Amino acid sequence: MKKVAIVGFGFMGRTHYGSWKKLKGAKVVAICDSNLAQLRNKVKGNHDTADDSTDFTGIAIYEDFAKMLAECPCDIVDVTLPTPLHPVMVKAALAAGKDVLSEKPMAVDTKTCDAMLACSRKAKGKLMIAQCLRFSEMHAYVKNLIDSGRCGKVISADFTRVSMTPGWGAQGGKSWFLDEAKSGGVALDLHIHDADLVNWWFGRPDAVSSRAHRRADGVMDHIATSYIYPDKVVSAVGNWGAVQPFVFEASFRVMFEKAVVVCDTRRSPTFMVYPEKGKPFTPRFRSDDPYLNEIKAFLAWTTGRTPKCPFPASEARDSVALVDAEKKSANTGKVVRT
Ligand SMILES: NC(=O)c1ccc[n+]([C@@H]2O[C@H](COP(=O)([O-])OP(=O)(O)OC[C@H]3O[C@@H](n4cnc5c(N)ncnc54)[C@H](O)[C@@H]3O)[C@@H](O)[C@H]2O)c1
Repeated sequence: MKKVAIVGFGFMGRTHYGSWKKLKGAKVVAICDSNLAQLRNKVKGNHDTADDSTDFTGIAIYEDFAKMLAECPCDIVDVTLPTPLHPVMVKAALAAGKDVLSEKPMAVDTKTCDAMLACSRKAKGKLMIAQCLRFSEMHAYVKNLIDSGRCGKVISADFTRVSMTPGWGAQGGKSWFLDEAKSGGVALDLHIHDADLVNWWFGRPDAVSSRAHRRADGVMDHIATSYIYPDKVVSAVGNWGAVQPFVFEASFRVMFEKAVVVCDTRRSPTFMVYPEKGKPFTPRFRSDDPYLNEIKAFLAWTTGRTPKCPFPASEARDSVALVDAEKKSANTGKVVRT
C-alpha cells in the first residue's frame, strides 16, 4: 500500500484526492495546505471534479510542507500547488526520496523545467507531471487514428479551450492565476493542454506564429497560435476571459483524408467520428476520467507494475517550451522557430 501526501488542497488537490480514494493500492495519509482555514470550505474550479468531503479521519493535516516531509512516512508526494511552487516542492520531495506526481504546467518556464529534470535524473524517486489529457482515452483514440493512418493523413486540426476567468485561488486577495509571473497567463495555464496535444499528436512544429490579447492589468487572457508544419494546418485558441454563465469549452476538430473527428464538451455526445464510409459513431471508452487514469498510471509505475514512465517529464518540459515559443511570438509579432 503506497502512502500518499497531497500538498496544496485547493481545486486540483481535491480533484486528485477524489481519485486517490478510488484506488486500492494507495492511501492518502497526509494533506498539507498553508491555508488550513479553507480546508473544509467548498472549492471552485472550471469543472466539477473536486472532492469536497470533509472527513479527514486517519489523515495527518499539516500547514508546513517542510514539517510534513520531515515527519510524515509517505512514499508519494502529490504536488497540487500554484505553479511557481512546483519546482521547489518537487525538488525537496525528490531529495527526500519520494516518488512525485506534480500538476501541469511543470513550471513557469523551460529553464526551470530543465533544472527539475536534472534533479529528477539524480533522484531515487520517480517524477511524473500530471498533464491529464495524456491519460484521456478519447485523446489516446485520436493519437492512435493519427499514428495508424487508418483514416489517411491529417489535413488540419483546430483546437479551442475557453474558460471563465480563474478567480478561484484568490483567498481574499488577487487570485495567483491573475499574476502572469506566477501562472504564466492563459497560454501556460490553460492553453498548454492543447499545446501538449499538438506536440503529442503531430510532433514538435517547425515554428509558431501567435497573437494575444491582454487585460487592462497586463495579464494575457487570449492566445491564438498557428503551428507551422510542412504538411498540415494546425491552430489553437485559448481564452480564459469568458464572462459567466459561460464556464468552459474544450473542443477540437481533426480533418483526416478519410474522416472528420470532432470533440466539443458543450455537446452530447462530446466526441464523434465521421468516417468517409459508414455511419458517424462515438467509440466506447472504459473510463474517460483522465484524472483517475493519470493517478492510476502513476501508481502502476511507482509500484513497478508498469516499467516505463507513462508520460516522461521531458515531454511535459517540451510542452512548456512550445508555450514559451508561442508567448515569444505573441510578444514580438514574429514567427518563432521551436
Ligand atoms: N489538470 C488540470 O486540469 C488543472 C486544472 C486546474 C489547475 N491545474 C493546475 O494545478 C495547480 C493548482 O491549481 P488549483 O486550481 O488547485 O489552485 P488553488 O489555488 O485552487 O489551490 C492551491 C492550493 O495550494 C495552497 N498553497 C499555496 N501555497 C502553499 C504552500 N506554500 N504550502 C502548502 N499549500 C499552499 C493554497 O492554500 C490552495 O489551497 C496549478 O499548477 C494549476 O495550473 C490543473
